[in-house]
Amino acid sequence: MPLDSTAVHYGAGVHVTPSGAALAADVTGLDFSKPLSANTMEAVKRAWADHLVLRFRGVSLTDEALMAFSRHFGTLDRAPIPAGERADPVRGYVLTISNIVVDGKPIGGLGAYESVWHTDMSYLDEPPYASFLFSVEVPPSGGDTGFCNMAVAYETLPAATKARIADLSCKHDSSRNSAGELRRGFREVEDPREAPGAVHPLVIRHPASGKICLFLGRRRNAYIPGLELVESEALLDDLWAHATQPAFCWYQQWQVGDLVMWDNFATMHRRDSFDPTTRRLLRRTQVSGVRHGRV
Ligand code: SIN
Repeated sequence: MPLDSTAVHYGAGVHVTPSGAALAADVTGLDFSKPLSANTMEAVKRAWADHLVLRFRGVSLTDEALMAFSRHFGTLDRAPIPAGERADPVRGYVLTISNIVVDGKPIGGLGAYESVWHTDMSYLDEPPYASFLFSVEVPPSGGDTGFCNMAVAYETLPAATKARIADLSCKHDSSRNSAGELRRGFREVEDPREAPGAVHPLVIRHPASGKICLFLGRRRNAYIPGLELVESEALLDDLWAHATQPAFCWYQQWQVGDLVMWDNFATMHRRDSFDPTTRRLLRRTQVSGVRHGRV
């Protein structure tokens, strides 16, 4: 998504080039080496509301600069602790996502595995509102990150499905991370009805845009309270197949110095696996969210 004739000027020198897919845009015109003005941030926020995922290319960011940029969008959240890892003792707000192993210990989470479609930390009562991912090292191929648009997913559901799910909720399993690893302190879930995790409405109103979004979180061990398990599985399978269809998705192919930010309420994301003998290192921050009520 280079700056081209399709770029739209959002003001304050901020140019936005839509991906052409159901979401995502490239943004240029920001100088991350200096404090960003209120006008610049206002333009970025409008672009984010329009496109849900923004990419800034060729950026150089320290952890402090990544945190400072993220703070424009809310209060920084503590980083989740990856399976088998300890929270960053120095900057508990920046999470390392990496397959790199130093002295026999992984320096970050998620390894080189595929990470399945999910909403970050939706197993919490108040999942984060936005996530920010900055690439320091990228593999020569693989490790692409896909995003899908959950407002479009809701909008395009058949009317009967919208009516059926209007008052339903879903339990979001907290026992495993998106790479399928069992989190520290959790037991294997045999029956989704028994899975630990927060319960959220299946349909939420976005707190900023007011748009209605499907809120699925994660498929594994999900359960719709009040339904027979077999019914819950069938409905969830249908909703997931609908929401993650390619027409609603866009894929980020990482270059070093990419900063990608996404709306965690109006999108889900996943990651392709990559060759574990190659290196991938990203730094992630996130900002606090809200408890979702019924629409
Ligand atoms: C994530 O799920 O936050 C990580 C995505 C990635 O590694 O690209």
